[in-house]
Amino acid sequence: MSSSLPKEGQQIEGPVESNKSPSTQEKRRPRLSLTRNLVNPNQYVLMLNGEYSQWAFDEERAPLNRGRWRSEVFKVSEEHPVDLEIGTGNGFHFAHLACKNKDRALIGIEIKYKPLIQSIRRALRGGAENARIVRYDASVLEHLFADGELNNVYIHHPDPWPKKRHWKHRLIQDEFLLTLWRLMRPGSFVDFKTDSRDYFEWSIEKFKASPFQVTRETWDLHNSEWSGENFVTHFERIFISKGLPIHYARLVKAE
Ligand SMILES: C[S@@+](CC[C@H](N)C(=O)[O-])C[C@H]1O[C@@H](n2cnc3c(N)ncnc32)[C@H](O)[C@@H]1O
Repeated sequence: MSSSLPKEGQQIEGPVESNKSPSTQEKRRPRLSLTRNLVNPNQYVLMLNGEYSQWAFDEERAPLNRGRWRSEVFKVSEEHPVDLEIGTGNGFHFAHLACKNKDRALIGIEIKYKPLIQSIRRALRGGAENARIVRYDASVLEHLFADGELNNVYIHHPDPWPKKRHWKHRLIQDEFLLTLWRLMRPGSFVDFKTDSRDYFEWSIEKFKASPFQVTRETWDLHNSEWSGENFVTHFERIFISKGLPIHYARLVKAE
């Protein structure tokens, strides 16, 4: 195998063609490899553009839906709510959300093939035909969505990148929050959870400097007034078993 070819999941700087877009799209590129360039695609890669191709979109097909998720993908009215989960992992929360809210549409973004397929398979097995999954780098959401295309957004336990030299890779950045705010409809919320105290401190500071209103903030979700409505995700279960408190915030885009 040539060492210059990407392996599954390897992240490289690479352009991904997409349809007409705002000027920011020219500047910012997703950090991910092209699925079609994989030399030894595993079963999950094959499923993405095979048996799940109606429900799952790779990094080349997904941006073609920008501005058209309601009309072309979900075939619903412009008023229909479309929510987003970033970094679905193996998809327990994704499937739960899709199955619980069949009157809403749900899109998941996941960069790795196995959890991506696990997520959409779990939702479909639960009877949720209102869910779709996308392989993309969530730091450039503007490639996938037009302004005002999204309703609620869920960000559960994103990679914390604890080393200072890696902080630039954290999902929560000032520019990312400005973009997210633009893409969301007024009255919608972002739910953010992490076990990392350091990442929560970083994020809260940026949330408060953003156009969002922080309507919920707790450093110990499981001992807070919001514990009853919380769904414990796969990673959250691991953190709880280690005795780590979960930090949680809700951001609202005002009406
Ligand atoms: C720590 S796991 C959390 C998974 C799940 N939300 C949970 O709480 O169990 C983070 C997930 O985000 C995905 N991820 C990391 N960076 C990403 C990116 N830039 N775009 C999309 N997904 C990403 C990872 O592949 C991984 O599945």
